[in-house]
Parts: sequence; structure tokens; C-alpha cells
Amino acid sequence: MNPIPVNEPLLDGNEKKYLNECIDTGWISSEGPFVKQFEQQFAAHVGRQYGIAVCNGSVALDAAIAALGIGQGDEVILPTFTIISCAAAIVRAGAVPVVVDCNSHTWNMDVRQIESKITPRTKAIMVVHIYGLPVDMEPVLTLADKYGLQIVEDAAEMHGQTYQSRPCGSFGALSTFSFYPNKHVTTGEGGMIVTDDEQLAERCRSLRNLCFQPQNRFVHEELGWNFRMTNLQAAIGIAQLERLNEFVARKRRMGQLYTELLSDISMLQLPLPQTDCASNIYWVYGIVLKDSVPFDATEAMRRLGQYKIGTRPFFWPMHEQPVFRNRGLFEGESCPEAERIARRGFYIPSGLALTDEQIERVAYSLHKIFSGEGYRHE
Ligand SMILES: Cc1ncc(COP(=O)(O)O)c(C=O)c1O
Repeated sequence: MNPIPVNEPLLDGNEKKYLNECIDTGWISSEGPFVKQFEQQFAAHVGRQYGIAVCNGSVALDAAIAALGIGQGDEVILPTFTIISCAAAIVRAGAVPVVVDCNSHTWNMDVRQIESKITPRTKAIMVVHIYGLPVDMEPVLTLADKYGLQIVEDAAEMHGQTYQSRPCGSFGALSTFSFYPNKHVTTGEGGMIVTDDEQLAERCRSLRNLCFQPQNRFVHEELGWNFRMTNLQAAIGIAQLERLNEFVARKRRMGQLYTELLSDISMLQLPLPQTDCASNIYWVYGIVLKDSVPFDATEAMRRLGQYKIGTRPFFWPMHEQPVFRNRGLFEGESCPEAERIARRGFYIPSGLALTDEQIERVAYSLHKIFSGEGYRHE
């Protein structure tokens, strides 16, 4: 029985061809022509004016927070149920992360909780679309407008997704993406900031490139980072972007097949196929164990491991992170939904290279574990 990895990307388009072009021309650094081409094409894909390619989706957030001038004493509201990169970018800037709990059905931030967290120090709302469904943006846009707040949109997982037909990645003053290999578009490691604001775009470009000055290169007025993306990464990105629509359709089909095969296991909460505003793109196929299951996600993943099925736990909430607790953050904070799904949630193989046969084997194993019997393959 071959192991089924939790993720495997598809790299069988023009990736090799464009990579060879980099080698043949000697353009392997960030100065190569594919970087600008990828920035333009990617930004256009989400309906934005400017794209700033960086070396991963985490630093995209660092640069976005810095570009907006968020720092000491400022507060940023974000979901507690997300990856560390979001809160880390806020904390590294010297600002304070303020968390809201998640919605138990979509696993996205519960937007009804945002307004009560707004104070005179609040500068921004960091929206993070989780696992395949977009955050309910309308109330967030209304609040941002009412209180004069910036929106930083982390669309790392949302390639090809829309909210009410508008692309995810088009809502923030600055919006960010990741191109890690489990994303719908990968560059190995990589990220992108997109915006319609020329000045913010220029600030992000400068911060990405050590704040070199155009006239006096090695004299610095500000501290930046080397967050540059290489021409090699951009070459892969362009090849991937050519197939984004196909990849989104493929993921949707995978999600539908999983749901079809698993919906008779009453002990499992499966991802919502759609909301009023979007249909799921299944960045990953998450599962939450209902209360009737007498064990937690760790045990479920261990059991799936016996069938050689790769899994990953759900995110661990920001307010429960030792690294933040040790800094005196989130004292007394409680977010029951995020705490529950962090302990009872995990995701199953969801990569683009996954075959229908593998999906059936995963479903079979879950049936064995949760109802004691499989249904095929015996
Ligand atoms: C919501 C979200 N934000 C940020 C990131 C960080 O991206 P990267 O791994 O490219 O640093 C991820 C990565 O999976 C993510 O899921």
C-alpha cells in the first residue's frame, strides 16, 4: 500500500520550459524578466493594478504591515484561527494583535465579533480566508468604512476564489498570497502583495529590496528586508498561473468527490460546499470530529497514518500560542469555537496531484475508522 501524501503539486505544464529559459539566459536572480511578468499577470488575475513578488506569503504580511505604517501602540484585529504568520507580522511591527473567534461552519473569522473589539488604537482588520471559503466581506467593508480602518487581506489560500463574484485578493488596501507547494499556484516558496495604490506598491517594492535608494543606492533612510523572489520561482509561477482555472476546477471536483463519499459518516463535520457568497475551492479538505467521536484529531490522524494516509492538524489558535502568552498577550482570552476545531479538526490529502482512486482509498479508511466497515477495495 503506497502512502498518500497530504499534498503533491502538479508541475507538468510549462514549468520546465520556462526554467530552462532562465538557465539558458543566465537570469536566475530577482532581476530576471519573469518576475515582472509574473507580477503583472498575477495582479491582473485578481483585478489589481500592482503586484509585488516576494519570497513567501509570510513576509508578504510583514511587508504589508510595515508599508501601512502600522507599529508601536497600534492594534490590528484578526482571526485567532489562522497561521502564525498573521499575528507574527503584527507583533514584529510592535503592534498588538486582537483576536476574534471563528464561525463554526465556515471556520472563517466570525465577523459579528469584530465591532466590539474596535478601540481608538485599532488601525486595521486583517482578514484571512481559511481553507477554501472566503470571509463574509460585506460587514468587514462596512466596519472598515465606518471606523476608518485599513484592511489587510491574507488571501494566501484563495487563488481563484471569489466573494460575490469579486476576486479574493481585491479587498485589501494590500492583499497577500502564498505560493507554497500546497497552494493552487506554486513557485516552491514565494508570495505576492497586490494593491491598486501606487504609493503603497512603491513602499512594498522598497521594503522588499532593503530600502535601497534609487539615487544613492547604499545610503539608507529606512530599514527594509531582502524579500525578493527569484526569476526561477517566477518562471514556475507563470507556468502555474496558465493553469489556474483548470486547477480550481480540479480541486472543486476533488472536494465534491470527498463529500459524496464521506457524507454518510455522521460523526464527521465536512466542509461547507458553498455559502451565499462563494462555492468552496477546497484549498484543503478539512474534517472536524463531532462530539460523538470519543477521541480527538491527534488520534484520528494516528489511525489514518496506519492506513498510510497523510494528514495535517488544523491551525492552533493564536491566543493559545505559548510564544504570545509568554509575552503577556491574550491573557484571559477565550475563543471556544477555535479551541474546539483546533483539537478536533485536521485535513486529509488535498494536493492537485491526488487521483480519484486515492480519494476513494482515503474515504475507505475513514469509513473503516468511523463506522467499522469500508465500502469498496476490500
Ligand atoms: C492563511 C495563510 N497565510 C500565510 C501563509 C504563509 O505563507 P508561506 O508559507 O508562503 O509563508 C499561509 C501558508 O500556508 C497561510 O495559509
